[in-house]
Amino acid sequence: MFEMFSPAKLNLFLEVSGKRPDGFHELETVMVRTDLYDKIHFQQSTDPKVRLVLAPESSGIAPADFPLDESNLIVKAANELRALTGTNLGATIQIVKRIPAEAGLAGGSSNAATTLLGLNRLWDLRLEKHELHTIAAKLGSDINFFVEDCRAAVCSGRGEIVRPIESTGEFYFVAFHPGVGNSTPAVFSQLTIDGSLQSSEVVQQALADGNSASLSDSIFNRLTDAARMINPAMDAMMTDVRQLLNRPVFMSGSGATCFVAAEGRQEAARIESQLASADWIVLGCLKV
Ligand code: C5P
Repeated sequence: MFEMFSPAKLNLFLEVSGKRPDGFHELETVMVRTDLYDKIHFQQSTDPKVRLVLAPESSGIAPADFPLDESNLIVKAANELRALTGTNLGATIQIVKRIPAEAGLAGGSSNAATTLLGLNRLWDLRLEKHELHTIAAKLGSDINFFVEDCRAAVCSGRGEIVRPIESTGEFYFVAFHPGVGNSTPAVFSQLTIDGSLQSSEVVQQALADGNSASLSDSIFNRLTDAARMINPAMDAMMTDVRQLLNRPVFMSGSGATCFVAAEGRQEAARIESQLASADWIVLGCLKV
């Protein structure tokens, strides 16, 4: 038995170039792994079943809101591994959940990737990285980033083509959530694509240089306006935080988590205290 961290990501850049015949959108995004994580504990079991358990110390999630059946990406990932390898082994997977759902932080995708990596080890399946990537891409668009196990990457295609990039130093962000999540398909359906495309070059360079000032000037997310249209609480939160802090407010993925960039841990702590409010949930300082 062993435990693995299952981290949340932030998108520091997201551009959409078009809608594809398969209904997905072609995009380019810069994803970074953060120090907000779920913990997943893997234990082999004698009966040939996969049992998922939500640990009582999980925060901010009602057990009723966390499915333990095949609708959970953890169970889907385990079932894909069983089908592919024909293994008859079982496992009990216990998760300490801290990453909120429908938050643009890819908590579910990260859990699925951690399950692929964890069960490959627990069951000694010896699948290679590229085989895990194939399963990951079948299960969703954000899972491959976590299978790659890198700090930062440019992800393209649906999001499943992962190219790790250099990231030096530490970056600090303060994240907050309006309490009402966003459905990713609903956000994409509101999007209008007008053809003028932004480039991720400056964001990539800022990460490589460890330049947080340049990074905060270049963070971009094409989905922001569409998400603001479908989530009035997030829209209001973005306006209020912009006024309160007098600094740009960004959205991760399809939302509804938003964040501001800080110059270091101390500034992040100061921003966090400024954000204390009944109107939104402060997720805290995320280190990248
Ligand atoms: O792949 P994933 O399960 O994360 O996608 C959820 C939904 O988000 C898709 O069903 C699709 O509606 C939308 N999506 C998209 N284009 C992408 C990724 C997701 O339209 N590149």
